[in-house]
Amino acid sequence: MTYRDEIDLNNLPKHIAIIMDGNGRWAKKRMLPRTYGHSKGSDRVIEIVEASYNLGIKSLSFYAFSTENWKRPQNEINKLMELIVYYVRTQLEKIKNNNIKINVLGDIIPLPELVQDEINSALDETSCNNKMNLNIALNYGGQDEILRACKNIGKDLLDGSINLNDINKNLFENYLYTRGQGPIDLLIRPSGELRVSNFMLWQMSYAEFYFSDILWPDFSKEELYKAIVSFQKRDRRFGGL
Ligand code: FPP
Repeated sequence: MTYRDEIDLNNLPKHIAIIMDGNGRWAKKRMLPRTYGHSKGSDRVIEIVEASYNLGIKSLSFYAFSTENWKRPQNEINKLMELIVYYVRTQLEKIKNNNIKINVLGDIIPLPELVQDEINSALDETSCNNKMNLNIALNYGGQDEILRACKNIGKDLLDGSINLNDINKNLFENYLYTRGQGPIDLLIRPSGELRVSNFMLWQMSYAEFYFSDILWPDFSKEELYKAIVSFQKRDRRFGGL
C-alpha cells in the first residue's frame, strides 16, 4: 500500500505549486558542491511532472529562479541556467508528445540569450497544447507580477481599451502570467522552511499549504502522493462555514 492508492482521483488539486528548496543543504550534507544539489533537484522536477501528469493534474508550477536569486554566486547562477537549457532541450519532445503546455512566469529578458532562445522555442512549440500546464517561474517575484498587472491595466485604461468599471477579479487575473489557469489549490514547500518567499501571491489566496522537512532532491513522487492525500483530508471552506 502506498500513498498513491489512497488518492481520491475525483478530488485532485487542479493546480499544484512547488517552492523547490533544500538543494544546497542536500549537497552540503554529502560534502558536494551546491550545484550538484541543483542537478539532483532537476531530476526530481521530471519525476514530479510525470507523476502529476499521470494523475491528471491540470496545472503544475515550479519556482525555479526568483528575482532575488541573482544575489547568488555567478557560478551557481550559470549552473541553474545551464540546467534549465539542458532540461528544456532533452524533455521537449516528450512534453510535446504528451500535449503539455509550457508557460514561463516571470520576465526572461535579463536571462542569457541562449536561455531565452531555448525557452521561447519551447513556448512556441507547446503553445497549442492543453492537457497540462507546466509553469516554470524564472526571474519571478509575486509582488512584481502584481505590479506588472497593475501597470498593464493602467495602460489599457489610458488608451481606452478598458473602463474603470471593468476592473474586477476576473479581469485582473487575465493580466497575470497564469492567465486562463485557476488558483493554486495545493502549495508544497519542502526542506523545513515555513514561508512563501514571494511566490504566486495572488494565486495562493485559498491554497492549502503542505510543508515537509524532506529536502527537494529527496522529494520523490511518493512524497507528492503524500502531500495530495494530506490535501484531500483538509476541509476547504473558502471563508464559508
Ligand atoms: C532552492 O534550493 C532551489 C533553487 C533556488 C533552484 C531550483 C532550480 C532547479 C532545481 C533548476 C532546474 C529547474 C528546472 C525547471 C529543470 P537552495 O539552493 O535554496 O537550497 P538551500 O536552501 O538548501 O541552500
